[in-house]
Amino acid sequence: MDVNIKILAIETSCDETAAAIISEENKQPVILSNIISSQADLHARTFGVVPEVASRAHMEAIIPVIQEALGNTPKTEITHLAVTTGPGLIGSLLVGFNAAKTLSYSLNLPIVPISHIEGHLYSVFAGLKKEEVSFPVLCLTASGGHTMLVLMKNHLEYIILGQTLDDAVGEAYDKVAKLLNLGYPGGPIISKLASKFREISSINNQVSNIVFPRPIINDGTFNFSFSGLKTAVLLKVREIESREGSIKDEEKEAVAAAFEEAVADVLTKKTRLAFEKYNPKYIAFAGGVSANNYLKERIKTALPEVPFLSPAKNLSGDNAAMIGIAAYYHILQKDTKSWQEIKVNSNLELV
Ligand code: KG4
Ligand code: ZN
Repeated sequence: MDVNIKILAIETSCDETAAAIISEENKQPVILSNIISSQADLHARTFGVVPEVASRAHMEAIIPVIQEALGNTPKTEITHLAVTTGPGLIGSLLVGFNAAKTLSYSLNLPIVPISHIEGHLYSVFAGLKKEEVSFPVLCLTASGGHTMLVLMKNHLEYIILGQTLDDAVGEAYDKVAKLLNLGYPGGPIISKLASKFREISSINNQVSNIVFPRPIINDGTFNFSFSGLKTAVLLKVREIESREGSIKDEEKEAVAAAFEEAVADVLTKKTRLAFEKYNPKYIAFAGGVSANNYLKERIKTALPEVPFLSPAKNLSGDNAAMIGIAAYYHILQKDTKSWQEIKVNSNLELV
């Protein structure tokens, strides 16, 4: 009898403890559960993730999160384990990695090691039928740890066209939020202020007088750079503070909007350039930053010729369902390992 694939996937690379069950139905991966325990509140005090604090929180959450993901699914129905083995914070990765290895040993199940970036790439296929996906797919993936343009030539075949030379986009959002004293994670906060500014200025027919640089936008490569933009924001905030004593809420909104405009210009320009060179069948936008509706709209509008894919909100940030979906395609290619064979690597490369 054919046993349907049922994967227990685990992801703990940064500050979310996550577990999911992915089941094969009609030869498709289907998400049965997707549990995420976020540490965002814990890291808000420090405006960013403190690695030691993150790994301790993973330790506390990992078993309850796995238990909740399993729900009524008996462990005996699980056919495979999947786990993020990098890139990420080593102390965080190790918690999920050891949990998956222990389960693999005790349940005598094969294990699929997955790159966190590969998981983000696969998040865009969730819910799509196999025949609906055609390659190549050009994917812009952006989070707190990476910013990359990847050409997926086929399932599990990647060419990295370009990536950030310094800060990741999400990291730039987080740092801008920190210097405006707004909290963590910065992405949702900054994007909210930016859209408020856009709304008010369109009602009043105003344009912002703040313009930030668009680093390496015209260099002809598919690489990115955001540290200069972040510094430009810092200098602007200092200039306002030294002139006025402190920065007002409306000025924070104007700074956030000008920052987001620079980010949007760079991301759309580079993605458009890659589209023109590689002529993909789909454009995809993944990673935590892809929760940003304005950036999503800008990219979609800049590439009207090609269908656009982006994960639902619960799959854009870190989660284990995307790890399980990527693992499903590895399993189809008989690419599984034993617990003795897998290794964790905080600097794991996609290819
Ligand atoms: O993929 P993710 O959850 O974790 C990493 O792999 O890093 O991405 C988190 C990043 C954070 O930097 C966060 O500020 C950013 O994604 N982010 C956003 C938005 N929501 C989350 N950035 C811009 N706009 C958003 N709406
Ligand atoms: Zn991520």
